[in-house]
Amino acid sequence: MIPISKPEIGKEEIAAVTRVLESGMLAQGEVVEEFEDKFAVYIGTDYAIATNSGTSALHTALAAQGIKEGDEVITTAFSFFATASCVLMQNATPVFVDIDPKTYNIDPALIEAKISDRTKAIIPVHLYGQPCEMREIMDIAKANNLAVIEDAAQAHGAEYKAKKVGAIGDIGVFSFYSTKNIITGEGGMITTNNEEIAERARLIRNHGQSRRYFHDCLGYNYRMTNIAAAIGLVQLKKIDTLSLRRMSNARYYGEQLKVKKPFVSPNVKHVFHQYTIRVKDRDKFQAHLERNGVGYGIYYPVPLPSQPLFDSNELFEVAELASKDVISIPVNPSLKRMDVEKVVKVVNGYEG
Ligand SMILES: Cc1ncc(COP(=O)(O)O)c(C=O)c1O
Repeated sequence: MIPISKPEIGKEEIAAVTRVLESGMLAQGEVVEEFEDKFAVYIGTDYAIATNSGTSALHTALAAQGIKEGDEVITTAFSFFATASCVLMQNATPVFVDIDPKTYNIDPALIEAKISDRTKAIIPVHLYGQPCEMREIMDIAKANNLAVIEDAAQAHGAEYKAKKVGAIGDIGVFSFYSTKNIITGEGGMITTNNEEIAERARLIRNHGQSRRYFHDCLGYNYRMTNIAAAIGLVQLKKIDTLSLRRMSNARYYGEQLKVKKPFVSPNVKHVFHQYTIRVKDRDKFQAHLERNGVGYGIYYPVPLPSQPLFDSNELFEVAELASKDVISIPVNPSLKRMDVEKVVKVVNGYEG
């Protein structure tokens, strides 16, 4: 089976983890600090704060931004659950916006209609590794005094007009879950140029402690381990090579596949966390892939507003349609030439 994702872990990661294990300093310490410093340099922000997941990074970002009960936060109808559940964690209300049918990202043209006097922030999600239309989103945010928290969990190294995502809004959030473009097993990162936000995020990540056993605010144990950071540091060295391999697989599919290719916006570097196509009878297509040993993923079969927790009656037509027919095929950097050739053969051989 050609896997939809596969961790790219080599001897260097194993040696780095071994060094941490032998040091006896397993929890958050100097290795995490080094990972934060190097990640901030890579993204191009003044600060980076590591956490133990993308979800905890999102929650910390919202808390550090001061999102609280009664506030509304605008986000996309089509993303992973954590994008919106982190708003609930702050007892605030997610307000959903439908997506652009070409990019699957939040449609900026629909944002303004959703702004109320309770709106405090927008969370654009760079889905599948493709940056959102950030110029328009930043303009709307500025005009309405809203914070922008970029959910870049799927878009490490992606660029919008030559600027890396995570460095465009007020705060960026990344995930290093094992399927992501770079990984630490579980892990997350917050990026920002705002010193106060960075300071608050550091407190929130660690039980609100300013000094040992002096707790200034509500916080959590969202700390990353030195073990995870050791993997992250090695992965960060490889990030551009890993992205290039994804992009080169995507280019090959673009040349060879007969199905409609994913749209890539002008002015972006799309890092192809996923290569997502659309098919009419998805169940039949899935069965065809399974029979022929090609892995796949469905991101996502249910739009966020239709999840029971949000239970919205509003119709998000574009997200609804996408949830019924999107399917992602393997594009990950572990694929060999013969794998991508096989994927092409199997996908092109489908008689829908
Ligand atoms: C868009 C998006 N946001 C947030 C997250 C949450 O990250 P994590 O799984 O590291 O908690 C993910 C992870 O799948 C994601 O894809």
